[in-house]
Amino acid sequence: MKKIFLFMTVLGVFAATSPVTIADPATDLKNFQAFFKKKFPTVPFDEYANGFYALPGMETYREQWLLYNEFPPLELGLAIGKKIWETPFKNGKAFASCFPNGGKNIAQGYPYWDEAMQKVRTAEMDLNGCLKKNGEPEFTDLDKDQNTRIRLAELTAYFYSLSKGQRVKIDISSPGAVKAYEEGKKYWWQRRGQLNFACANCHMDLAGKNFGGNQPLSAALGHTTAWPAQRLEWGRLETIHFRYMTCNSQIRAKSQKHGSEIYNDLQFYETYMSSGLPLTAPAMRN
Ligand code: HEC
Repeated sequence: MKKIFLFMTVLGVFAATSPVTIADPATDLKNFQAFFKKKFPTVPFDEYANGFYALPGMETYREQWLLYNEFPPLELGLAIGKKIWETPFKNGKAFASCFPNGGKNIAQGYPYWDEAMQKVRTAEMDLNGCLKKNGEPEFTDLDKDQNTRIRLAELTAYFYSLSKGQRVKIDISSPGAVKAYEEGKKYWWQRRGQLNFACANCHMDLAGKNFGGNQPLSAALGHTTAWPAQRLEWGRLETIHFRYMTCNSQIRAKSQKHGSEIYNDLQFYETYMSSGLPLTAPAMRN
């Protein structure tokens, strides 16, 4: 019986068929953040917004990171994003007209649960929505068209930069939001790919370790606060969904589509887990 129970738990059978899912995001959050406090007692909370550079043993990486932050190469892409943000549409309006407070100090609430749509909405979706509303062509084909995706990453980076330092605050009060949160959570903990790894294996169990000798692993706490980000290796700003795609390909798992509902839910879950941390996006990464 015990064996069967274990087997079903692994398959997620209980979560899927249980008539009453007892979801309590607030308790999850407390446990999640306590996990890292216990694992890395010397790391101050706010430092988690700086990715793996915050973790013990990463001092050499951190020194290099501080150096290239003096003239961060992402400034180039960020300037393009600013230009796109400010350039008027054909009707004379611009992106700021689509957002409360002209888009300033609001990104800490992203992604958010849209009650009318019954879906999670990301900043990228709202930026595209703004184009549509104003009769402009949207950013599409983001899986295949790298240039278009980079432009959207640059624009999103600028949008986030308008909220730099604001602390993550995600509202999960409606039943629909809790359901989306549960989907994201499930994805986070599920093992997949040829390596049979879950997100949690690398970014919780192995956080602070150097995977394969050249891949320091960040703590999940703080994930999302720095994105869009620019990796030195990529030499361009990228969206967080692209980061998810590369994480999945590292474990030889089938990636989900850029902008897919499951990645939105995953981002919703991850961001909620970083509640209270300051936004640092856009940031540099190795
Ligand atoms: C095989 C290990 C591995 C797995 C499994 C994995 N990742 Fe990663 N991930 C990495 C590496 C390596 C990096 C780059 C170094 C870092 O920041 O951790 C990274 C970076 C990230 C970052 C950027 C962190 C930052 O501060 O810049 C996010 C977000 C992320 N992963 C999310 C996920 C999610 C969500 C999953 C599950 C779908 C996942 N990862 C699964 C290895 C992994």
